[in-house]
Amino acid sequence: MIFDGKVAIVTGGTRGIGAAITSHLAKGGATVAAGYSRDTAAADKLRAELGAAGKNISLHQGRVDDADDCNRVVKEVLDQHGRVDFLINNAGITVDKTVRKMTVDDWHNVLGVNLFGAFAMTKAVIEHMIERGSGRIVNISSVIGETGNVGQANYAASKAGLVGLTKSVALEMSQRGITVNCVAPGFIKTEMVAAIPENVLAKIVEKIPQRRLGSPHEVARVVCFLLEEESSYITGAVYTVNGGLDM
Ligand code: CAA
Repeated sequence: MIFDGKVAIVTGGTRGIGAAITSHLAKGGATVAAGYSRDTAAADKLRAELGAAGKNISLHQGRVDDADDCNRVVKEVLDQHGRVDFLINNAGITVDKTVRKMTVDDWHNVLGVNLFGAFAMTKAVIEHMIERGSGRIVNISSVIGETGNVGQANYAASKAGLVGLTKSVALEMSQRGITVNCVAPGFIKTEMVAAIPENVLAKIVEKIPQRRLGSPHEVARVVCFLLEEESSYITGAVYTVNGGLDM
């Protein structure tokens, strides 16, 4: 199988797009260390499902907006599995409010998980990847980082920030066998999108050229493509998966 012998860390890897990435990687033969912060039931369910199918998955509780947690989780993964080949910075939250209503905490909480979290996890794993002279990092951005959105100043800033983080780390790692890329999904059928008020979501779907939401699977397969050995000449790139929303 294509990812046999590889070890991947997927933050927010037990729900939504993250669960699809975990599942694709595990089915491709990788050992997957799936991070989660609170939802133990969803994590246990995914582990049971994949475990029953004979796949290798370990669960790691921690907050990506806490650098100590990030370092601890990476140490746990190295102790358990001996190496880290792939880091997928997928953990993300929304606190949607117009700027007039958004509090300073709303700003910091979203930027902390979505942007600082990717930095802290990258920092926690990068020396190991440099030592081995290989690694793949994929950051999950969003179409909102490019277009902006009413009620999402914090989220849009965090997702645009991930593009800058991606390109900077890609440049720094370009001669060390480590690629760093972004996947920017549009509106994907997950709990996050299900929380959008129904009337607002209907208007969003009208604007999507394909007139439908994407599936987590459609995002996960692009992430896996970027992780393949033969994708080694792709770095600092942003792959969009959005039904044509940014045209
Ligand atoms: N354009 C401009 N202004 C708008 C607007 C629009 N389309 N819609 C609303 N507004 C303005 C209103 O005029 C109002 O302005 P004032 O405060 O100056 O009066 C203000 O926004 C608040 O409007 P409401 O009172 O009607 O709405 P609210 O405060 O209850 O909620 C909202 C506003 C938080 C933006 C809500 O509509 C919402 O949750 N929208 C969905 C946001 C969204 O699309 N989130 C995506 C989540 S999925 C995701 O993020 C994944 C991904 O990567 C794609």
